[in-house]
Amino acid sequence: MDQKVDQIKKEINCFHAKNYEDLEAFRIKFLGKKKGILTVLFKKLKKLPIHERKIFGNVINDLKKKVQKKIQIDHSKNFIKDEDENFDPTIPGKSVVIGSLHPISIIKNRIIDVLKKIGFSYVEGPEIEDDWHNFTALNIPIDHPSRDMQDTFFLCKNPDIVLRTHTSSVQIRYMKKNSPPSRVLSVGKVYRNETISSRSYFMFHQAEGFYIDKKVSFSDLKQTIHYLITSLFGEVKIRFRPSYFPFTEPSAEVDIYNNHTGWLEIMGCGMIDPEVLKNVNVDSEIYSGFAFGIGIERVALLIYQIDDIRIYFDNDIRFLRQFQSDF
Ligand code: PHE
Repeated sequence: MDQKVDQIKKEINCFHAKNYEDLEAFRIKFLGKKKGILTVLFKKLKKLPIHERKIFGNVINDLKKKVQKKIQIDHSKNFIKDEDENFDPTIPGKSVVIGSLHPISIIKNRIIDVLKKIGFSYVEGPEIEDDWHNFTALNIPIDHPSRDMQDTFFLCKNPDIVLRTHTSSVQIRYMKKNSPPSRVLSVGKVYRNETISSRSYFMFHQAEGFYIDKKVSFSDLKQTIHYLITSLFGEVKIRFRPSYFPFTEPSAEVDIYNNHTGWLEIMGCGMIDPEVLKNVNVDSEIYSGFAFGIGIERVALLIYQIDDIRIYFDNDIRFLRQFQSDF
């Protein structure tokens, strides 16, 4: 054993690294996690009787320190200088291009920021959904058009698995797991089998907010939406239009007015239907709630005045690098 230790010591002492690769090979040879010479010896230690373990342990520890010291000293050498005498440290470095956030991410963060201030917490849900979370629990009848293959991307039938058509499925996932009061926001991609044009795409983003507690009323919903919209756009004209969603009652669509586009629908909302609360075991005699779903691309269209949705997903750097997250 002594002979082996002497040999290792000699090898360590005689080692001189010519470059970083040499140094790394040296480190791995002695201290590599699996097969390093010293690592293996450390492992063998455990099998020795206690008194030998102590003596032998000290010896290997000394060797380890020697290796580490060598690595430390050699690391501080400037190998590049040794190797390449033409290296000129005065040449300016290459500048690194720093990326910027995607405009959709900027708006997403902005909405999260605004709603966080009034107590909404952020959660995420899966983009691949089953029938129950995307349709049934949300009270969407069996013959609803969105259940048709023409409108929705089905990944499989029986059981029906879809690319979620809206973020309302997150309401169901959250309410199933958490009892009220809940004040929750989720943002993400949704998919619909639409003809691609400047205003529609097979994928877009929605932000879904919902609030359930005792005595939540439509005026709470209006107030929240007013706050959200004015925080995003400043003082603008807002219009609530009566509408229909199977999972809210009453329901409304919200339009905002802008000189560029006239009235533009940007979200759907309403009081969560008692049937939906029943599906997630929330007692609608005690609790009520509201929900809203806002299209992020629509918000981006108004803020950036870009009315071709396709350009957001072309990934053209010249377009994307114009956006700054100054919110
Ligand atoms: N899920 C609806 C849609 O995608 C929007 C919505 C969300 C409506 C929440 C009411 C309440 O069109």
